[in-house]
Amino acid sequence: MNEPVPKILFVDDEINVLKSLERLLQNEGWDCHFVNSGAEALGFLKTEKVDLVVSDVMMPKMDGLQLVSEIRQLYPEIVRIFLTGEAKQENIVKALVEGYTQQIIPKPWIDQELKEIIRSALRQCTQQKKHSLEFQTLINSIPLLPTLPESYSNVRSCIVDDEVDIEKMANYISQDVAIASALLHWANSALFGQRFQVDTIKKAIVVLGTDIVENLVLSEAVNRTIAEQIPVVEGFDFAKFKKHSMATAVISRLLIKSLHLTDFVRHDRAFVAGLLHDMGKLAAVSFFPEQFATAIENAKKRRCPLPEAEIAVYGTQHAEIGAFLAEWWALPPFIVNAICWHHQPQSTPVEEDVIAAAHVANLLSYQFHYGSNGGTTVRGIADEYRIKFYLTEEAIEILKTETDKTFSDLVN
Ligand SMILES: [Fe+2]
Ligand SMILES: [Fe+2]
Repeated sequence: MNEPVPKILFVDDEINVLKSLERLLQNEGWDCHFVNSGAEALGFLKTEKVDLVVSDVMMPKMDGLQLVSEIRQLYPEIVRIFLTGEAKQENIVKALVEGYTQQIIPKPWIDQELKEIIRSALRQCTQQKKHSLEFQTLINSIPLLPTLPESYSNVRSCIVDDEVDIEKMANYISQDVAIASALLHWANSALFGQRFQVDTIKKAIVVLGTDIVENLVLSEAVNRTIAEQIPVVEGFDFAKFKKHSMATAVISRLLIKSLHLTDFVRHDRAFVAGLLHDMGKLAAVSFFPEQFATAIENAKKRRCPLPEAEIAVYGTQHAEIGAFLAEWWALPPFIVNAICWHHQPQSTPVEEDVIAAAHVANLLSYQFHYGSNGGTTVRGIADEYRIKFYLTEEAIEILKTETDKTFSDLVN
């Protein structure tokens, strides 16, 4: 099926600006429309369905801020971009911070840059359409989604047609001390059970396998880029979040081994699924901290699981937000699904066993006191999964011992 042609509305009071935009974008395959006032723009939107609005800020009568805030109210699903020569003005920056606009293109613009920003906004539009209006509204209240961390793209670039350039990969990783030492710790931990000391990054890559290496790099980079600037949110502790993700990865890998002893691809996938499953919480805490804090507080008060409280506050929950981000970054489908379905693995279209392992590991991780869910209620493990993974009291005790062992290797 052909993708529908995206429709863009450009608003500027200067006819020359509109004309040069028209010339510049005529061969892009987009359905571009041009109007020269806020009133005209609103009139256009009444009858036409638009994906993206690119608006000037300084316009007579209705200025860009007024226009865009009306659009946000009336059509929250439309992505909004400012085109302005006044990017430094306080109210423009405020507009970005408060979510009136999601991106600013400076005037005069660089042609390639302008096209790239529009392309990226349109990709976001296409992806958003797969979700509910409430979800689109939420996503449109934040700036355009962050791009994939560079350190991850670098590591990925070392894999071409399933061939891995280990030398080059080791080189990239060695440049980042924190990531390099995390890899060495994992490679030497009980979980990967080496009889010899892994003392170089190259050896660590061989021991861990590229899937795990790639995703450890990703999670470190995401933690760093997203989490570094996260505001203080009552009930969310970043150090505990990290611990919870790591423990879930460890337990998830141990669990899948009990089902598929020699399926090493699945072992790796279960680890990765556990590591990244709660990525949406990081996004929530950094993009809309107040609403996330309210959800945590309500969950505590009402003694309900966090996702239920999140849905009541902002119409979606961290699993959907995380999956959206993972899809945006074009991560492999099993990761997108693991993030999306870690609370209800029976709904996943792929890798049900892997995602069930991450689901159970998530719950056991709290039970073993690795991290916390901000004091909110955590569901018990359903009988179905107790049976599936042979979770007797004794088996759970063994899992705990093995998890503790791996953790002590990771911190020592
Ligand atoms: Fe979760
Ligand atoms: Fe979790």
